[in-house]
Amino acid sequence: MVKIEARLVGREYQIKNHLGRKETLSVLENFDLDIQEGEFLSLLGPSGCGKSTFLNILAGLDEYDKGEILVDGKPLEKISFNRGIVFQSYALLPWRTVRKNLEVGLEIRHVDRKERRRIANQYLELVGLAAFANQYPHQLSGGMRQRVAIARVLAYHPDLLLMDEPFAALDAQTRETLQIELLRIWEADKKTILFVTHSIDEAILLSDRVAFMTSRPGYIKEIINIDLPRPRTEEIRNSAEFARIRKVVWELLQNEVLKEQSYGAYL
Ligand SMILES: Nc1ncnc2c1ncn2[C@@H]1O[C@H](COP(=O)(O)OP(=O)(O)OP(=O)(O)O)[C@@H](O)[C@H]1O
Ligand SMILES: [Mg+2]
Repeated sequence: MVKIEARLVGREYQIKNHLGRKETLSVLENFDLDIQEGEFLSLLGPSGCGKSTFLNILAGLDEYDKGEILVDGKPLEKISFNRGIVFQSYALLPWRTVRKNLEVGLEIRHVDRKERRRIANQYLELVGLAAFANQYPHQLSGGMRQRVAIARVLAYHPDLLLMDEPFAALDAQTRETLQIELLRIWEADKKTILFVTHSIDEAILLSDRVAFMTSRPGYIKEIINIDLPRPRTEEIRNSAEFARIRKVVWELLQNEVLKEQSYGAYL
């Protein structure tokens, strides 16, 4: 079943340019994408092409001007308790402790106190922050804050998980650990995940499909299937098949279709 259908979506912003004049900035144009229920789909594209914009629209935090977006066959609603987002920059509540930050979504769902605490502790353990449960966000490092944000959304179990470069601020080892953990959690309950990343290897490791966007105004230029077997483990990164897919992706990025300066960052 199709979870998300984005049809010819367009988004424009009215901005003031560097000369102080009003200008229309077209960010998304003819953005077309289907995401299947239970699918893990990664979105790759040059900086500024509109990835976060699309995620924010799906999260109900931004509008779109053109086209249509359906969720479970119905028009996208602004407010839904079935969507969870991990922002590019960690959005924690500064007046709440780490544990209380994890409990936010569970409170919205009226999970009782004891159960909230149990779930929060479980996910804090998972991201290696159990010892920091009673600290406040400003007492944590950037990477630790991001781990709280990830744990919070995982604890909430949304039907649709929107993740905007969730691992970008983490050290390499934590990143690899959390990639595998995320896969393990996803394989257990197969929720739909839309994952933005700038890392080709990360996209290949995690995804069923990888969608490539053009530079702004962004739209989906190409989608490839990642046919690696599941469950995927750490070792798969070193397999011949992984190397083959990586080569395909690199060639794709270099070929005419996607030959855009801004993809230089990946090569
Ligand atoms: N609220 C806004 N008002 C005006 N312009 C905006 C707004 N939000 C985003 N933009 C512009 O839209 C474009 C796309 O931004 P977006 O954050 O979606 O890019 P991105 O693909 O997520 O990039 P990155 O990889 O750097 O995170 C940028 O040029 C940005 O300046
Ligand atoms: Mg972004």
